[in-house]
Amino acid sequence: MKRIGFIGIGLMGRHMARHILEAGHPLTIWNRSEEKAQELLASGATWADSPKMVACSSDVVITMVTDSNASEQVSCGTDGVLEGTREGSILVDMGSIAPEMSRSIADRAREKGVLMLDAPVTGNPKVAKAGNLGIMVGGPREIFEDCQTIFEVLAAKIVYVGEQNGMGTTLKLINNLILGVAIEAVSEAMVLSAKAGIDPQKVIDITSVGGARTGAMETRGPRMIGRDFSPGFSTDNMYKDLSSVVKLADEFGVSIPATSVTWDILRAAKSRGLGAMDSCCVMTVLEELAQTVVKAAKEN
Ligand SMILES: NC(=O)c1ccc[n+]([C@@H]2O[C@H](COP(=O)([O-])OP(=O)(O)OC[C@H]3O[C@@H](n4cnc5c(N)ncnc54)[C@H](OP(=O)(O)O)[C@@H]3O)[C@@H](O)[C@H]2O)c1
Repeated sequence: MKRIGFIGIGLMGRHMARHILEAGHPLTIWNRSEEKAQELLASGATWADSPKMVACSSDVVITMVTDSNASEQVSCGTDGVLEGTREGSILVDMGSIAPEMSRSIADRAREKGVLMLDAPVTGNPKVAKAGNLGIMVGGPREIFEDCQTIFEVLAAKIVYVGEQNGMGTTLKLINNLILGVAIEAVSEAMVLSAKAGIDPQKVIDITSVGGARTGAMETRGPRMIGRDFSPGFSTDNMYKDLSSVVKLADEFGVSIPATSVTWDILRAAKSRGLGAMDSCCVMTVLEELAQTVVKAAKEN
C-alpha cells in the first residue's frame, strides 16, 4: 500500500486523513498547529516535523491547506514538500487554490522529477466525514489513475478534467461560483420572506420540491433560521474563491454579474468581522440593509 503524507489537518483535512488511515495506508502528517493532529496521532498516524519530513517518508503527499499562498509555502517553501521528495514521488494538492498557482507548483515539482495533480474537492466537513466528497482532477492521466484508489476512499464522485494542471482548480472555481451565488440567493429569499411576513421555514418547505430546489437552501436554510453561522465553509474561503473566479472571468472576457455582486456582499461580511463565520452569514448583511431579522415563527 502506498505510504501517504497528509499536510493540513483543518476542518476538511482531518476527516480526509482519517479515511486514508482507515483504508490501511501508512500515514504521516503535519499541521502548522500541532494540536489539531492529536486525534489522528492517537489513531495511528505518525507525526513529522515539517512538510519536508512528511515527503521523506511518503510515496504520495497530499496538501489540504487554505489558499494559494499556504499551498506554495508548504510545497515549495523552506522545509517544504519538494525538499523531501524523490524522483517519482507524487504531490496531490487538494486545496481550492488559484489555477495559476496549481500550474506554478506543478512546474516546480516537475523540475524535481515529481508529478502533481490538482484535485480540489466539493462538499463540506460533514460530507468529508462521510467519505462522499466530489473530487475534480487536473494533471497527468497516468498519475490520476495511480491515485484513483486513494480518491475512492474520500469521494462519491471523481471527475478527471484533463492533462493540464490547473484544470481541476478551474472546475472547482466554476463549482463555487454556483455555490456562492446560490447561498446569496437563498439569503435574499430569507430576508425578503421575513420582511413580507412569511415564515422562512415555509421557504425551505416549498423549495424542497420544484425548480427552485437547491443544495444551498438544504444545507444553509436551516442554519440561517437557527442563526448558526459556525464555520462549515468560511466567508474568508468563499471570498478567496470568488476573487479567483472574478479574475478567471476577466482573463476570458466573460461577464459574471451575479458573482460580482455576491463577491461584494462577502467583502461586506468580512469587513464586519465575519470572515471566520460560515459564508451563509452574508444573510446578516442583507438583514442590515433591509432592517429586518430572519426568524422562524413561534409555532415551528
Ligand atoms: N470547509 C469546506 O466546506 C470546504 C469545502 C470544499 C473545499 N474546501 C477547501 O479546502 C481547503 C481547506 O479548507 P478547510 O475548511 O479545511 O479550512 P481550515 O479548517 O481553515 O484549514 C486550513 C488548513 O490550512 C492550514 N494552513 C493555513 N495557512 C497555512 C500556512 N500558511 N502554512 C501552513 N498551513 C496553513 C491550517 O493550519 P492551522 O491549523 O495551523 O491553521 C489548516 O490545517 C481550502 O482551500 C478550502 O477552500 C473547504
